[in-house]
Amino acid sequence: MLTIMSIDWSVISNYYSQIAQLYDATRPLPESIAEQIGDRILQIVEAKPTTKFLEPGIGTGRIGFPIIQKGYSYTGIDISREMMDELRRKFIQMPQNLTLIQGDASSLPFEDNSFDVVLTTHVLHCLADPLVGLSEIRRVLKPNGVYLACENLLSSYQKEFWDSFTRIVSQYRAKSQPETETQPEKKFSPFGEEMQRVLKEQGATVETITAARWQQSQSVSELFDAFQSKAFGLCWLVSEAEFQKAIQEFKTWCQQNYESFDVVLSDEVTFDITVARNWV
Ligand SMILES: C[S@@+](CC[C@H](N)C(=O)[O-])C[C@H]1O[C@@H](n2cnc3c(N)ncnc32)[C@H](O)[C@@H]1O
Repeated sequence: MLTIMSIDWSVISNYYSQIAQLYDATRPLPESIAEQIGDRILQIVEAKPTTKFLEPGIGTGRIGFPIIQKGYSYTGIDISREMMDELRRKFIQMPQNLTLIQGDASSLPFEDNSFDVVLTTHVLHCLADPLVGLSEIRRVLKPNGVYLACENLLSSYQKEFWDSFTRIVSQYRAKSQPETETQPEKKFSPFGEEMQRVLKEQGATVETITAARWQQSQSVSELFDAFQSKAFGLCWLVSEAEFQKAIQEFKTWCQQNYESFDVVLSDEVTFDITVARNWV
C-alpha cells in the first residue's frame, strides 16, 4: 500500500475551514454507530456525572456529540471556527455542558491536571509536532485520567481510492516543488502501533479496543465527488491548475477500475481506541 507520511499535514491543516460543510458527509459515521462509540467510551472511562472530557480537534463533533447529548461536561478546542460552527448547528440550543474554544492543540489554554478524559480522533497528525500535542494532553490530564487516541479506520475500498489519488497527486506535486519541500523531515505518526509505542515509552499502560465494527457502503460517484470537492488534505497540496489535471486523471482511473460510477462498494470498517492509563 502506498503511503505519503512524508507530507507535513500542518502546512495544510487550515483546509478544514474550507470544507467544514462537507466534512460529515465525506467521513460517513451512521448515527447508531456514533451512539455505540459514545457508549463504549463512557464504559471504558467508567464515566461518572462529574467526569470532565476534553477533545482537542473536536471538529464537527462527530465523536463527541452523543456524549455531549448525555450531559457530560465536554470541552472542545479546534483551530477552525467553521468546523465547530457545524457542531453548533447540530443543537437547537447550545448545551450548557459544552464549551467550545477556538485554539491550538499544541498550546492548550488549560491548567495542568484539568480533565478526567482527553480524547482525540485524527488531529495530532495535523500539528507541526504531534509530540508537542501529546505532551499538552498529558499535562492537562488529571493523574488518574484516561487518554483515548481514536481512529476511524478506512475500509479497503477507501484505501484504494486514497492510494490512487495519492499516487496521481504526488506526481504533480513532485513536478512543481523542489525536492527539499517534497520530502520534509519524517515526524512521529500518531496512529496505531507507533502511537502505542510512544505512549508505552512514556510509561502509560496501553490497550487497544475496537469500539465499533460496521458495514459501510459508498458508490464510486460518492467517493469520486469527495475528492473532486477537495474534501481531503491531499487535494490541497497542489495548485488549482494541477489539481484540475490530477482530478481528470483520477476520473479516468475510476472509469477504468469500476464498471460505472453507480457501482456501490461495500466493506467492513472499525473504530479503534488506544486507551492510555497511568500516564503520569
Ligand atoms: C480530521 S479532522 C478531525 C475532526 C474530528 N476529531 C473527527 O474525528 O471528526 C481534524 C480537526 O483538527 C483541527 N485542527 C487542525 N490543526 C489543529 C490545531 N493545531 N489545533 C486544534 N485543532 C486543529 C481541524 O480544524 C479539524 O477540525
